Amino acid sequence: MPVLPIVRLGHPALRTPAEPVVPARVVERAFQRLIDDMIETMRAAEGVGLAAPQVGFGLQLFVYEALEAEDPARAVPAIPAIPLRAVVNPMVEPLSGEQIFDWEGCLSIPDLRGLVPRHPSVRLRGVDRHGHLEERVVEGFEARIVQHEYDHLNCVLFLDRMSDLKSLAFVDEWQEFLHDAADDGPRSKAE
Ligand code: NI
Repeated sequence: MPVLPIVRLGHPALRTPAEPVVPARVVERAFQRLIDDMIETMRAAEGVGLAAPQVGFGLQLFVYEALEAEDPARAVPAIPAIPLRAVVNPMVEPLSGEQIFDWEGCLSIPDLRGLVPRHPSVRLRGVDRHGHLEERVVEGFEARIVQHEYDHLNCVLFLDRMSDLKSLAFVDEWQEFLHDAADDGPRSKAE
């Protein structure tokens, strides 16, 4: 399975709305291969999510997965384990609760981190890689990833969601100066 090139900020693919996928196509070999290649690409880049426009496909598809990561300064994992998922034609509906700020990065905006407000839980509807409709409520870090990836399908980047660009930082400086300032535990993964 090849690792696909990830387009970066400035590439028009990131600012073009993604098209819905014809449901019958999901189980076709070419589409299954695209899903596998996106998973491979996300893992190779050590990201926790990847949307199809980031690899130049204008389709409503994203994949995500997080491996548990320990934070040596805290007893709890900084990143909880989130099982691998592929979501086609997603709909994301925010559920009640005030928006929470936390650090985000993006594989298409390398080396930058910023504080982004997100809904703490959302209802996610979509089609899985077997072509089955699924509906789930996702919370916390998973809800953040889902909102980030869903935004990619609508040409929205995390920079557009930041309410104050003053928190924007390069990863090295973020590690040195801002890492411990995060209320909710440090997370440095890109999506
Ligand atoms: Ni991203």
